[in-house]
Amino acid sequence: MKFTFYGHATFSIEVGGKQILFDPFFTGNPLVKDVDIEKIKADYIFLTHGHGDHTGDVVAIAKRTGAVVVAAAEIATWLKSMGIEKAHPVNHGGPSTFDFGKARPVNAIHSSSFSDGSYAGNPMGFVFTTPQGNFYIAGDTALTMDMQLIPLWAKLNFAVFPIGGNYTMDVEDAVHAADFVKCDTIVGTHYNTWPIIQIDTEKAKADFAAARKKLLLPAPGETIEL
Ligand code: NI
Ligand code: MN
Repeated sequence: MKFTFYGHATFSIEVGGKQILFDPFFTGNPLVKDVDIEKIKADYIFLTHGHGDHTGDVVAIAKRTGAVVVAAAEIATWLKSMGIEKAHPVNHGGPSTFDFGKARPVNAIHSSSFSDGSYAGNPMGFVFTTPQGNFYIAGDTALTMDMQLIPLWAKLNFAVFPIGGNYTMDVEDAVHAADFVKCDTIVGTHYNTWPIIQIDTEKAKADFAAARKKLLLPAPGETIEL
């Protein structure tokens, strides 16, 4: 599986020959550099919640690529009103099968609204099980006991956690979350985008190493193999 980070909480995972784009936020994302949004590929787009730093460019990219957009039912309804016919509504606990594998929406403790303040359903993470491997995208979330359910469904190859604190888990809680989901390879997101979520990345890596886990922090634009 190939993981490409774009900055903040925007990244792509290539699995089974399909490009899955997560939480597209390019326009106004201070970490995005030299990315031609017209060239971003997507067979699927998964949205964890409605906040602008996760959905800012979804309509434009979905229209251009024709990607299937998987999101909370309330977000899918909004997408359909914006002309995105291939919006796929989901909700917590309801797995869906796609041509690359299965995705299970799971709880995330956060909030979810559109930029105008209107209701965007519940925030969520996703557990993916595929022939190429399994992974968990936490979305914006606090540490939650529900993470302890995830090993019931998947032995994870890697997990993607927010680590910037203030709005989401910080590094300390992300280490606990890695224990909860029984995964030793974590990709960090949602940090250093703005001063309010600035972290010491060397200390973060050391904190994970002290727990005998690996924290991967690909640079914006970097692709890593997982
Ligand atoms: Ni958020
Ligand atoms: Mn966010």
